[in-house]
Amino acid sequence: MQLIDGKFISEQIKQEIAAEVAEITTKGGKQPHLAAILVGHDGGSETYVANKVKACAQCGFKSTLIRHEEDITEEALLQEVERLNNDPDIDGFIVQLPLPKHISEQRIIEAIDYRKDVDGFHPINVGRMSIGLPCFVSATPAGIMELFKRYDIDTKGKHCVVLGRSNIVGKPVATLMMQKAYPGNATVTVCHSASKGLKEICRQADIIIAALGQPNFVTADMVKEGAVIIDVGTTRVPDATKKSGFHLNGDVLFKEVAPKCSYITPVPGGVGPMTIVSLMRNTLLASKKAIYTV
Ligand code: GUN
Repeated sequence: MQLIDGKFISEQIKQEIAAEVAEITTKGGKQPHLAAILVGHDGGSETYVANKVKACAQCGFKSTLIRHEEDITEEALLQEVERLNNDPDIDGFIVQLPLPKHISEQRIIEAIDYRKDVDGFHPINVGRMSIGLPCFVSATPAGIMELFKRYDIDTKGKHCVVLGRSNIVGKPVATLMMQKAYPGNATVTVCHSASKGLKEICRQADIIIAALGQPNFVTADMVKEGAVIIDVGTTRVPDATKKSGFHLNGDVLFKEVAPKCSYITPVPGGVGPMTIVSLMRNTLLASKKAIYTV
C-alpha cells in the first residue's frame, strides 16, 4: 500500500507556482490577486478561507478577504459580486459556500463573471468542462486529477466508482474521470443515497472516489484487493482529545481499508491540501489570462 501524500505534493506545487509568480513579477508582470467573500462565521468556512489566504501568501499572490455578517441581503451580496467583477486588479474571486438560507447560492454563482470564477462553479465553466473545453475546473476534482498524475496512477479503462453526486465534487469528478484523456478514460459509475447494491458495485471498483460526507462509510468488505482509494470526506467529528474539540474524519474507514489498497489518500493530508492549490493554480491562470483572453 502506498500513501498518497497530498500535503507533500501540494507544498511542491505551491513552490512551483511561487517560482512562476516571481518570474512574472520580476519581468514587470502582474501579481495574481485572489479575493474571497466570507458570509457569517461558520467554523469550517472560517478555516477554509484562512487556509486559502495563507496559501496565497505562500504562492506570492495578493489576497483580499471580504467579510459580511450572516444577515447580508441577497441584493447586497449581488452588488458585492458585481463590484469584484468590475475590479481590474482582482483576477479571480470566490464566494465561500454554504451561504445563509435566505440567499440563493445559485443566483450568486451565476452572477460571478465566469472569467473570474476560479472555483469553476459557474454554469459556463461547468458546461465547458463537460465538453472538454478550456475552463476553470473546480478545485477538489482538479486536485484529485493532479494526484493521479503525480503518482502516475493508471486510470485508462479502469472501473471508477464515485460515491456522491454533489455539484462541487461527485458530478465534476465523474465527468473528468470519463473524459478521453489522462487522467480519465475510465468506466465511471456514480453511486448516491438512492443506489441499490452499492456495496457490490464498490467491490467491482478499481478506483473508489468517496465524496459522501459520511464518516467511515467505506469499509474493507466494500473494497477489492489492490484498489485505489481517494477519500474526499472531511466531516468534523467531536473529539475531546483535540485542542479544537474535533477531528476531521474521512468517508473511508482507513485503518481497515488501507491494507487492501494499492494507493490511498489519508484524511487529513490527502485531497484537502490539493483543493487549495488547485484554487491557486486557477488564480494564476486567471491572472495570466490563460483560459479566457479578455
Ligand atoms: N465550500 C466547500 N468547498 C468549497 C469550495 O471549493 N469553494 C467555495 N467557494 N466554497 C466551498
